[in-house]
Amino acid sequence: MWKVLILVSFALAAPRNDLDFTSLNTFSLQLLYNTYAFQESYGEKNIVISPLSIWSMFTLLTEGCSGETFNQLMKELRLPNDVKATTALHLAVSNMLLRKDQDVILDGVSGLFADYNLNIHQEFCQYAKNFDTQIFVVDTSNETLLADDINTFICKVTRGRIQEAVKPSVLENLRMILVDGLYFKANWTYPFDSTQTREEAFYNHQGKMIGSVNMMYHKAPHNVGDSPLIGAQILEMPYGKDEQLSMLILLPFDGMPLQMLLENLSRQPLTWMNDILTSETLPELDCYIPRFKITSQSDMIPPLMYMGIRNIFDSTKAEMPGISDSPLYVSKTVQNVNIEVTEEGTVAAASTVVGLEDRILSQRFEANKEFVFLIRERQSGFIVFAGVYAEPSLV
Ligand SMILES: *[C@@H]1O[C@H](CO)[C@@H](O)[C@H](O)[C@H]1NC(C)=O
Ligand SMILES: *[C@@H]1O[C@H](CO)[C@@H](O)[C@H](O)[C@H]1NC(C)=O
Ligand SMILES: *[C@@H]1O[C@H](CO)[C@@H](O)[C@H](O)[C@H]1NC(C)=O
Repeated sequence: MWKVLILVSFALAAPRNDLDFTSLNTFSLQLLYNTYAFQESYGEKNIVISPLSIWSMFTLLTEGCSGETFNQLMKELRLPNDVKATTALHLAVSNMLLRKDQDVILDGVSGLFADYNLNIHQEFCQYAKNFDTQIFVVDTSNETLLADDINTFICKVTRGRIQEAVKPSVLENLRMILVDGLYFKANWTYPFDSTQTREEAFYNHQGKMIGSVNMMYHKAPHNVGDSPLIGAQILEMPYGKDEQLSMLILLPFDGMPLQMLLENLSRQPLTWMNDILTSETLPELDCYIPRFKITSQSDMIPPLMYMGIRNIFDSTKAEMPGISDSPLYVSKTVQNVNIEVTEEGTVAAASTVVGLEDRILSQRFEANKEFVFLIRERQSGFIVFAGVYAEPSLV
């Protein structure tokens, strides 16, 4: 019913060594823009994605790719043109996902489930293990059992918030599956007082009321500012006592459609992040934020293809010789994410499943749409009957 754009960001206060996360953020914002465009065309107005999971899983796969498949991934994931720098970046990202303070939990796991008949190269396994990817050798032909294993793996890290990351039918024909789970739970540094929460109207960009929300309220010192570059007012609300993580809320300027803000975010340099005040003494701000909950399931292949990552998803073109001698391609990329924002804080969980299939597929013919039929004499080839079947019935 309503639209709000949120980003959970890593506080930029302390840059780690000389690592630059600009390229990763640029990837994330483009993926958000593309995913929103696809989801909205299916009538989904609220979405939430975990771009970081996609980035780290495809960065791992890049290591096993070659040719044009490799080039497209390097370019669109914006990886440094240098294996060492890529590894350092990937490692820094994996390490950040291990935060278990008293009031902030950010926890991630990744796993690689491979069929026992698939001979995965030792170097690739080692590379995966370097990023804390657990490796499991399984029988991928038993999809029920495999789905159970994957769901248990995800359920554990997400503390039960995602119980069904995959259905057995999604795993059909897959030989290798990469799985990533993410869990985030944090209290606001300045919590909202739930006795102050009121039902309030919610509007679209033209100022038309489109529904109601439970609006939370508090007065707190927050970073806030206007960014003409992207056309939005930006608010930053920190989590936890040490304020290492925060949520940014980007509210489009009056009259500006959300779509345009998303487009700006995907095109403009990230300097808008500096447009929020970050002085020592922040103003006490009257802050109204809706309490909300979003559950999204997204097929990430169309937005990634739209971005320019194509060959890895193409059964005729994928080149992944570094993973296994069997020719593979990525046939599935499904993400489940849910987020709940309350007076107390935020809980979010994500699961991402990337499935690889053999490129030599068993052929399939399924007459499940209108078709033409001919009956012919085989020796001469002449047609005896010809027809069309277009209206189904249960005869
Ligand atoms: C988070 O906030 C809730 C509600 O105020 C409180 O019960 C809980 O103890 C807090 N958690 C931590 C770890 O501070
Ligand atoms: C899959 O594994 C389960 C549990 O081990 C077993 O009960 C079931 O029969 C297996 N299914 C197939 C098709 O092998
Ligand atoms: C970004 O947003 C502004 C509104 O402040 C708009 O006028 C501008 O055209 C947008 N820029 C781009 C590149 O889309």
